Amino acid sequence: MAGAGISTPSGIPDFRSPGSGLYSNLQQYDLPYPEAIFELTFFFHNPKPFFALTKELYPGRYRPNITHYFLRLLHDKGLLLRLYTQNIDGLERAGIPASKLVEAHGTFASATCMVCRRSFPGEDFRADVMADRLPRCPVCTGVVKPDVVFFGEPLPERFWLHTVDFPLADLLLVLGTSLEVEPFASLSEAVRSSVPRLLINRDLVGPFVSCPRGRDVAQLGDVVGSVKRLVKLLGWMEEMQDLVQRETEKLDAWGT
Ligand code: OAD
Ligand code: ZN
Repeated sequence: MAGAGISTPSGIPDFRSPGSGLYSNLQQYDLPYPEAIFELTFFFHNPKPFFALTKELYPGRYRPNITHYFLRLLHDKGLLLRLYTQNIDGLERAGIPASKLVEAHGTFASATCMVCRRSFPGEDFRADVMADRLPRCPVCTGVVKPDVVFFGEPLPERFWLHTVDFPLADLLLVLGTSLEVEPFASLSEAVRSSVPRLLINRDLVGPFVSCPRGRDVAQLGDVVGSVKRLVKLLGWMEEMQDLVQRETEKLDAWGT
């Protein structure tokens, strides 16, 4: 399970960290309260704040960091049952196939017309978003919203895979999330009680505080340092460096 804390080392602010988090930095948009940026009623009243965020997070601006590559390595080794992420930056897509990924809070990679519900690739609206123009449906002119899940909206259907996956897991990794948003947060309690849960996060959160289990392990502090420590303990340092180097060369070649 992953959250915004795995992407802060890539330069993307998280939501709730005091000072640096997105919710502390929205004054310029005149929102009634920070979470309104992800609420449909506010979006229909004023979609500008959400599209300013969209412009910032549109695919291609940021690069994965060692945490994303660690998850990729788990996949390459056949150890990853599924990656459940709350992140909408799409950085997990670097090398982890769609079949292994559940983007529980949606994505900017596709978008839906809020009037006729037609679906479009997010790319179709890149020029509009970059020019601060409201994306409009080419068929009915309705406002087109990226498929990021707003508060009150249903989660993508793939989220239901959790009913199959979590009872099968034999280790749960929880990385970079405050575990404050439901229903995602409760997944951390959906593994069998004998299954170890490893939290890698700056601070202790959610059920690791409220209902700890005997086999819980918490590695607190910066996610990059913690992941490096784990990789070292696993003896994967060399493979990790090779992977990071290969992927960085690819990104350099693409000029992103
Ligand atoms: P939060 O911002 O709520 O939590 C991020 C967690 O990561 C916090 O516990 C931070 O302390 C920790 N963190 C940040 N940077 C870190 C670092 N470098 N090393 C270690 N820990 C670090 O983000 P989420 O839990 O992902 O919804 O938030 C959940 C949802 O709330 C988001 O998906 C978003 C928001 O409303 C939507 O986008 C729809
Ligand atoms: Zn339409």
